[in-house]
Amino acid sequence: MGNRPIGMFDSGVGGLTVYKEVKKTFPNEQIIYIGDTKRFPYGSKTKENIIKASKRCVEFLISKNVKEIIIACGTATSRAIDTLKVTYDTPITGIIEPTVEYIKRMNYKNVGVIATRGTIESNSWKINLDSKISNINVYNQECPLLAPMAEEGWIKNEVAKLTIKEYLKNFENIKLDALILGCTHYPLFEDIIKEYLPNVEIINTGKVIAKQMEQSREKIKENITKDDKFFITDTQCNFEAVAKKILGKDIKIEGIDVG
Ligand code: DGL
Repeated sequence: MGNRPIGMFDSGVGGLTVYKEVKKTFPNEQIIYIGDTKRFPYGSKTKENIIKASKRCVEFLISKNVKEIIIACGTATSRAIDTLKVTYDTPITGIIEPTVEYIKRMNYKNVGVIATRGTIESNSWKINLDSKISNINVYNQECPLLAPMAEEGWIKNEVAKLTIKEYLKNFENIKLDALILGCTHYPLFEDIIKEYLPNVEIINTGKVIAKQMEQSREKIKENITKDDKFFITDTQCNFEAVAKKILGKDIKIEGIDVG
């Protein structure tokens, strides 16, 4: 079991922010990653379509003999995790549960969430935070333009700065303890977000997941012999170039058809 790979999926490059943190913490684990670029963006799709897309990714990962699956996507976590958990035997983790545990441990009471339209519409963060923490104030803000900008590699330019400034305007008069980056594309904008909210803890869910995994399992000691694998469902995209920006190295990408 220990030597089987970990599976991860997202709609595109965003989940690589989770991959990066998990890989840093568990360098000897093999990871199999899917960027479902054919169906990007997940944030503007219906719950039914996100469940369908997520099932295709999960089944592909299971066919690769993964021992567990991390949903490296806020939208797929919000829309599909309940269905996926009851449909498959393979252990499945999303980005919400570990982050809610972290907020609880930190005793934060005023928390902002920025995420895709689909995630905000589902109200999943508020529902999960309310169920575990009493008297917590959750402030939601959808940011539909950010994931597409990240896929373009527009993560540091003036357009990114102005767009983020506009989205964060609603937090101006709220004293937040923390801001959850509820979409895994958003850690790519972390520096800009920090400039606008200098006194707020900015929560990168990939870091939270890696930490939680570190506390709950043994690390594989021996060096892995197998390279990580990166699959995308449509090759007409910028995945390779943006992945290089995120990971600081070239990766080999394979196109797949999951239906
Ligand atoms: N990375 C995604 C998320 O965490 C999806 C963004 C999108 O495809 O709209 O929500």
